[in-house]
Amino acid sequence: MKEQLDALAATLFAAVEAASSEKDLQELKVRYLGKKGELTALMKCLGALSAEERPLVGQLINTVKGRFEEEFTSRLAAVKGAETRRRLASERIDVTLPGRRTAVGSRHPVTLVVEELSEIFAGLGFQVAEGPEIELDFYNFEALNFPADHPARDMQDTFFLEGNRLLRTHTSPVQVRTMLKHAPPVRIIAPGTVYRCDSDATHSPMFHQIEGLMVDKGITFGDLKGILTIFINQYFGKGVGMRLRPSFFPFTEPSAEIDIACVICKGKGCRVCKNSGWLEILGAGMVDPEVYRHVGYDPDAVTGFAFGMGIERMAMLKYGINDMRYLFENDIRFLSQF
Ligand code: DAH
Repeated sequence: MKEQLDALAATLFAAVEAASSEKDLQELKVRYLGKKGELTALMKCLGALSAEERPLVGQLINTVKGRFEEEFTSRLAAVKGAETRRRLASERIDVTLPGRRTAVGSRHPVTLVVEELSEIFAGLGFQVAEGPEIELDFYNFEALNFPADHPARDMQDTFFLEGNRLLRTHTSPVQVRTMLKHAPPVRIIAPGTVYRCDSDATHSPMFHQIEGLMVDKGITFGDLKGILTIFINQYFGKGVGMRLRPSFFPFTEPSAEIDIACVICKGKGCRVCKNSGWLEILGAGMVDPEVYRHVGYDPDAVTGFAFGMGIERMAMLKYGINDMRYLFENDIRFLSQF
């Protein structure tokens, strides 16, 4: 029986030595010391031994059991340590690696220009007003003194919708909406999207305008010229040449178109200014008394001026962009330059 025990002990300790996981070790414990374990089986045979042999063999078995407990514990610690080291190695993070940056977009040049213009006019006391892009004929035309059969309506290449609705062709209807809601004085700018059935290198069916309106007692054409001079000097730089040409708009009388000295050739004449030395940048004028009648203002009590300009044109002149279509293609390589 002693040989049997020695042989069993030899295989058991070799197996403990070879175990490479906690699971292996637990299985060994069950296999040798469990209820149906091999060592347990030997202990059950003790009763069959003689009175002298029994304590000797019992002691031997106990020695094996004790040694097993010891080796089991130390092997378990070793195996667990190895497992932890393996896990740590596989989860290792190199904290010295540079982080991954998220790509940051840039603001669209049209947005940049709207923000800059809004800031300049805010400095002159103008508040920002808004109106709908789907507009009624009344606000887009009628109240702005374009009667039903007026030929000036043809100039606007309108997208008509059902009913009396249309896509606004300019931001001027915001003048009407503002005056209907607020008694004078008013001093607003209205940036926004407008639509016209027109498309080439300098026209887009969807583009942006900014409208200005100032109405109060005693406002004169001199105020209009003063405000526009300050604005042009701030936006295009000090001392830019400027001129006013007589023009016509149904909602202003008198009306003018404002030119600045060509920002490309400084007035010498080039392709951009068609050799004239001048660039048209906006339309303006004194608000026509007919408009006041439509909004319930007394034309004998107040006067005022209005102006309107294309934002894409402002962006193109400031940044030297020669084709409006770049502004709508949304190529990141183009847009990220501003
Ligand atoms: N609404 C005009 C257009 O789109 C621009 C304009 C001209 C606006 C003169 C004005 C103005 O307020 O006084 O062509």
